[in-house]
Amino acid sequence: QYEKLWLGMSLLLIVGFIATITYGAVGVGVSMVDDSGGNVDPNALDEHPEFSDPGVQKVGENEYEVYVVARQFIFQPDPIVVPANSTVTFYVTSADVIHGFAVVGTNANTMVIPGEVAEITVEVNEPNEYGIVCHEYCGSGHHTMEGLLRVV
Ligand code: CUA
Repeated sequence: QYEKLWLGMSLLLIVGFIATITYGAVGVGVSMVDDSGGNVDPNALDEHPEFSDPGVQKVGENEYEVYVVARQFIFQPDPIVVPANSTVTFYVTSADVIHGFAVVGTNANTMVIPGEVAEITVEVNEPNEYGIVCHEYCGSGHHTMEGLLRVV
């Protein structure tokens, strides 16, 4: 008699686990579909209309602003090309989840939060190439999320 009861409870538990796992998988799947087609958060867009066309803008003698949009699992634009001997300010936002933005070999290293704009300035001197990496776990393609800064 008790055996049957225990068997029944075990089965319920197992069904519960499977339901939880399935629900989680479906939830992630749905959000990833949304994210891939997502747009930049409207707040960030209002403050910085430049994000609608991410890229490099010359704002002064040897001074550049770069608007970067991070999304699963790319940086836009890629590559980023700026002239040597200039001051470069990055404005970075996310179109979906929290990402990281680090220009390897420079002091540029920040979190990228949806709806917020990270600002970071670097001096670039010699022509060189710098890898850009996402250092916040952002999903299944996180380890492939990288870009390139080309100083010419
Ligand atoms: Cu984007 Cu990790």
